[in-house]
Amino acid sequence: MKAFTYRRYGSPDVLQLTELAMPVPADNEALIEIHATSINAFDWRHLKAVPFIVRLAGGGLITPKHSVLGVDVAGVVVGLGRNASRFQLGDAVFGDLSAQHFGAFAEYVTAIESDLAPIPKNLSFESAAAVPMAGCAALQALRDIGEIERAEKVLINGAAGGVGTFAVQVAKYFKKDVTAVCDNKSIDLVKSLGADKVIDYVQEDFTISGQCYDLILAVNGYHSLINYKRSLSPSGIYVMCGGATAQIFQALLLGPLLSQFGTQKLCAFSATPNSNDLATLGEMIGAGDVVPVIDKRYSFDDIPDALRYLGAGKACGKVVVCLK
Ligand SMILES: NC(=O)c1ccc[n+]([C@@H]2O[C@H](COP(=O)([O-])OP(=O)(O)OC[C@H]3O[C@@H](n4cnc5c(N)ncnc54)[C@H](OP(=O)(O)O)[C@@H]3O)[C@@H](O)[C@H]2O)c1
Repeated sequence: MKAFTYRRYGSPDVLQLTELAMPVPADNEALIEIHATSINAFDWRHLKAVPFIVRLAGGGLITPKHSVLGVDVAGVVVGLGRNASRFQLGDAVFGDLSAQHFGAFAEYVTAIESDLAPIPKNLSFESAAAVPMAGCAALQALRDIGEIERAEKVLINGAAGGVGTFAVQVAKYFKKDVTAVCDNKSIDLVKSLGADKVIDYVQEDFTISGQCYDLILAVNGYHSLINYKRSLSPSGIYVMCGGATAQIFQALLLGPLLSQFGTQKLCAFSATPNSNDLATLGEMIGAGDVVPVIDKRYSFDDIPDALRYLGAGKACGKVVVCLK
């Protein structure tokens, strides 16, 4: 089978189109013929090893631990391990392989069954491939860490990207008043996703406006933790999902400390692949409450270009790679 492999960290130029042996599913795994995958900032970070912590957090200290990148997968089950019983051959499935061995930038991949969910009937492979990492990150960050049920006013910083476009829609699903922060070119897009108010970050810095929010999800861009804290209501919650390296370290190191004083909570968040959450997102999509936003489609051979586009940090929605 064809796969993009890499043996050292670097730009997309280090990726090589290689012929690999067909993977064999372990006892609890399914073999998937990949119809579509999508690009995540996660792939970009593991390609470049930026920030350095990627190397310490399982990416591989000197050289990449996993030679094939790609975590979002949508495809058809074409093989099953001895103890795999959740799916049947021919089932359409999607999932996030970030807790496993990655490997979605290939024609076939194996995956632990429990990280997969059936693709809802009305969802195409390319739309399904857009969902796993970004959709689950948005859902888990807002619902589980951000306790969105008890929030009224929610702000999403970085609302136009892969995670952000899901986050705006998930927050609207919970019927919250949503303020989306993006640049001028994405205002119409995030409004169309249901945002009640849109702030163009080039024109306005929401952290000095005096406006406070019960829940802030930071998905991209940079503001200091102190500025985010100032924009929280007295018992508000700040969830750092991603953004600049400084933002990540501030949330990890200072967040727990600042949360000790007063009733605000400031924390870093890491999504966990979860087939129940994927099924929940599938239901939201089936009901029309959430629509995967696809910015660009690439063919398999153009995966390096797809990564370059994502790495430029200006994607509006998801960047999808279609194999079939
Ligand atoms: N914690 C987790 O488990 C988890 C899971 C998934 C992703 N993440 C992280 O979340 C972050 C975003 O991921 P993604 O997939 O959404 O990335 P993405 O699709 O590449 O995000 C691109 C978007 O970021 C926006 N952006 C860039 N600079 C901005 C700024 N200064 N202020 C506001 N928005 C800005 C851009 O909007 P404009 O074009 O409007 O500028 C663009 O639409 C990454 O750091 C990623 O590592 C974390």
